[in-house]
Amino acid sequence: MQPVKAKVEILDAKTREKLCFLDKVEPHATIAEIKNLFTKTHPQWYPARQSLRLDPKGKSLKDEDVLQKLPVGTTATLYFRDLGAQISWVTVFLTEYAGPLFIYLLFYFRVPFIYGHKYDFTSSRHTVVHLACICHSFHYIKRLLETLFVHRFSHGTMPLRNIFKNCTYYWGFAAWMAYYINHPLYTPPTYGAQQVKLALAIFVICQLGNFSIHMALRDLRPAGSKTRKIPYPTKNPFTWLFLLVSCPNYTYEVGSWIGFAIMTQCLPVALFSLVGFTQMTIWAKGKHRSYLKEFRDYPPLRMPIIPFLL
Ligand SMILES: NC(=O)c1ccc[n+]([C@@H]2O[C@H](COP(=O)([O-])OP(=O)(O)OC[C@H]3O[C@@H](n4cnc5c(N)ncnc54)[C@H](OP(=O)(O)O)[C@@H]3O)[C@@H](O)[C@H]2O)c1
Repeated sequence: MQPVKAKVEILDAKTREKLCFLDKVEPHATIAEIKNLFTKTHPQWYPARQSLRLDPKGKSLKDEDVLQKLPVGTTATLYFRDLGAQISWVTVFLTEYAGPLFIYLLFYFRVPFIYGHKYDFTSSRHTVVHLACICHSFHYIKRLLETLFVHRFSHGTMPLRNIFKNCTYYWGFAAWMAYYINHPLYTPPTYGAQQVKLALAIFVICQLGNFSIHMALRDLRPAGSKTRKIPYPTKNPFTWLFLLVSCPNYTYEVGSWIGFAIMTQCLPVALFSLVGFTQMTIWAKGKHRSYLKEFRDYPPLRMPIIPFLL
């Protein structure tokens, strides 16, 4: 016997206006397939722009949710919200990270119209300025490469408007930090080489840690899937921080910027570290909450970002 086909009506979540009626939908159709059918009648709303919900104000259904497993009657009513123009995550990250890399170098090479004519293309006499440039560039090149070759994102796109906000943050801070660090009147840190060496050690350790966590997260998700698992420490000692926090990649990221702030002894760097820490704490708390909700056996000792504290 043929399975009974389902009917799906799609209403605008704001106005409740009926946008589309789909007759004869396979009961085992996924939300992704329903989005594709909806796009056929409304091509301006390509699937990545669509959010479909069971309740106008509820959570978006996942692409992999199956119609017959949802609590709906013979005619399923779904509510549609337009997420706005979308841009791929890879494009977002490449734009966000290539910007700071390039902007910092403009200040490092003291291109004209920044510090005054007599300093055009001159070079700092302080070793720490060159070291800072290497660290800053390394950090963003690492992030670009990780975006291209390591991360396995579960979402293909994000709203286009976010890119303006994110780029203002990354590009603006990069310019502000670079302006002071590469300034002809910049003075090296108070405790000289000792301070720089300690800071460099912190920076390098945290970069290795951050990379190790990204590799461990990648290994949790088979290529092409969206699986989410509990991350556990591996043989790599840098991942042992998973024993104590849910998002050690953020812990290491903050550590790297603290190292960079100690190295350069520059106030804008300290502020960038503080703002980044605040943002990553908000995200880490959200991810930690989701782990607790999703996994009953989630290790109880873990905190979101700072062991035993936060
Ligand atoms: N300086 C700053 O202000 C700042 C701010 C934010 C981030 N960052 C840097 O950018 C890096 C990446 O940031 P992010 O927010 O994308 O990090 P993230 O959420 O920890 O994710 C990194 C990658 O791992 C995947 N992933 C995370 N948890 C997983 C799990 N339990 N199972 C399977 N896969 C999982 C993510 O997939 P999904 O696509 O499913 O999430 C993503 O592809 C950070 O580690 C940090 O170094 C810097």
